Amino acid sequence: FSLKPYNTFGVDAKAKYFIEIHNIEELKDALNFSKEKSLSLLFLGGGSNILLTKDFDGLAIKLNLKGISEENLNNNEVLVTAKAGENWHEFVMFCLSKNYGGLENLSLIPGNVGTSPMQNIGAYGTEIKDVFVNCQVLNLENQTVETFDLEKCRFGYRDSIFKQEGKGKYIIMEVTFKLTKKNHHIKTEYGAITSELQNLGIEKPTIQDVSQAVINIRQSKLPDPKQIGNAGSFFKNPTIPLAQFEALQQKFENIQGYPNGAMVKVPAGWLIEQCGWKGKQIGNVASHKLQSLVIINATGTATGKEIFDFSTEIINSVKEKFGIELEREVNII
Ligand code: EPU
Repeated sequence: FSLKPYNTFGVDAKAKYFIEIHNIEELKDALNFSKEKSLSLLFLGGGSNILLTKDFDGLAIKLNLKGISEENLNNNEVLVTAKAGENWHEFVMFCLSKNYGGLENLSLIPGNVGTSPMQNIGAYGTEIKDVFVNCQVLNLENQTVETFDLEKCRFGYRDSIFKQEGKGKYIIMEVTFKLTKKNHHIKTEYGAITSELQNLGIEKPTIQDVSQAVINIRQSKLPDPKQIGNAGSFFKNPTIPLAQFEALQQKFENIQGYPNGAMVKVPAGWLIEQCGWKGKQIGNVASHKLQSLVIINATGTATGKEIFDFSTEIINSVKEKFGIELEREVNII
């Protein structure tokens, strides 16, 4: 069964078995089937953060739980719950259509609601942890439903318990966010938003305006996975000790960094570009010409192995030039 339509890289890897589930009963049936046959499992959400490097000799489960519900909290706040299979951007648009604020900076991020807590998706000054209340998960070991609140999720930069101790142990079924109904917190600190709002001639932006600015910025430099296979940022922005950063500043005076205590976060896109990768293509794979942090399936026929090997070459050259080891953000299967 080809998984090509189920991963945004558009890699044509195959799964031995495939099932699409729409509710928890179907999910439990699928899990029991995998137990009987001793199959390993691969869970697919929006497929926007995985790289399939080979065929999968097990059961791939596409999580397609749908539905959005709301619960009024008070005059200014509402709880909105979306099932895992809801498309992230459509969910954001739904919230904006109701004038619920909090997710606007996260417009146009590919993927589904159910995978948003995995890596604490973030962009343009917002991370989901800022509005996250809890998520309901299915514990794969005993098939019970558990609730993970903010603290239990242990969110960090592109990180959560679901990528650490909890890896492979839970399936996120639905996520609840606390959003504002009025008195919205408009977040425009991220430089690119300010200048895009200026371009649009907007002085007092609404949450809808912020969303539009983010959409414009993303469309201007990030490739649409429907047209060119990609999984967004392929690497995390590395965090290095201040002393190491200062030493690099001596050698590379243009190096950028965002200090955070004794550490400095360095934009991986800049490091990769400095190594000459921006827009460079090898075979079927390339680094995107407008944002080198994004690796693309340039011809549409790349294999996962080719993409993986390309990413290894980038890691090696950044290591050689800057002494920094880039870490992949995309899940390698
Ligand atoms: N830069 C370069 N060359 C490049 C790319 C970037 O020099 O090829 C420089 C830019 O000039 C800028 C800095 O690096 O000064 C940061 O670039 P940008 O604002 O594009 O953000 P980023 O750090 O590259 C992160 C997220 C993105 C998110 C943006 C906006 C990570 C790994 N990536 O990228 O997330 O949209 O910030 O908040 O943290 C994603 O996860 O798929 C994703 C796109």
